Amino acid sequence: MDIAGKIALITGAGSGIGRATSLMLADAGASIMVADVDEAGGRETVKALEARGAKAAFVKADVATPQGVRDMFRAVEDTFGGVDIVYNNAGVSCGNPNWPATSLDRIFEVVNINTSGVMMGTKAAVEAMATRGGGVVINTASIAADNPNPNEPIYGGTKAAVAMFTRCCARLKDTHNVRVNAVSPGMVRTEFQRKTGDGVAPADWLVPAIDRIGEAILPPEAIAQAVLDFIRDDSLAGEVRVVTNQLPAR
Ligand SMILES: NC(=O)c1ccc[n+]([C@@H]2O[C@H](COP(=O)([O-])OP(=O)(O)OC[C@H]3O[C@@H](n4cnc5c(N)ncnc54)[C@H](O)[C@@H]3O)[C@@H](O)[C@H]2O)c1
Repeated sequence: MDIAGKIALITGAGSGIGRATSLMLADAGASIMVADVDEAGGRETVKALEARGAKAAFVKADVATPQGVRDMFRAVEDTFGGVDIVYNNAGVSCGNPNWPATSLDRIFEVVNINTSGVMMGTKAAVEAMATRGGGVVINTASIAADNPNPNEPIYGGTKAAVAMFTRCCARLKDTHNVRVNAVSPGMVRTEFQRKTGDGVAPADWLVPAIDRIGEAILPPEAIAQAVLDFIRDDSLAGEVRVVTNQLPAR
């Protein structure tokens, strides 16, 4: 797909990988609908996009709820008249306290954000793209999908689900002209690490991994580039691509 002139809806675009991908897609000529639960972060991304001359808008939407998913697709339709690219990127880890002290409420929340959010976002994308003859969906998995981390089994389980869900969606290329692929990042330098702890500092178990990986922690632009590669390559569907230059965190 040629990105110039296309419309992209990106979840979790108020920070980190979602923001970096928004900026890179805008530089390639796309208009961006920024979706996030964090209004301040989302509006900051829109400001950065507009400062580069891109068309952009923000919608406050919780990807974990059917209503949040309906709201963000309604927003992109009302604002830009449709959508060609959907990046289901919003995701969270359980954070402290460590498994198995994780609360039932937190398990429910993380599973719904990371897994239901991607599944509902993909379904809604396929429906929205039908009027435009097709499009591209990218999901964010993680190397935690394939590398067991005993500290975050809920997170690993949700990301394994995202990876398999993506593979199962390969056929949508033939049936609906929608290519669904996933990036599977290693550790990336974003706010994500900090949120594994008390919201201010990373969880104790993550600190040695951060120290060990050090400079090899990827910038979010490395993941954004992989997302753009998926969008441009019309042959790819149902692929999960690992993007890392480090050993997995344990
Ligand atoms: N940073 C890493 O090391 C790393 C590694 C592998 C995978 N990932 C995945 O990359 C994705 C992006 O993470 P990031 O590193 O940019 O983290 P981040 O914390 O910087 O950004 C995540 C964004 O998602 C938003 N979000 C959270 N819950 C939401 C909800 N219910 N609805 C809508 N938005 C919501 C947050 O407000 C935030 O703006 C996540 O799926 C994460 O699991 C991150």
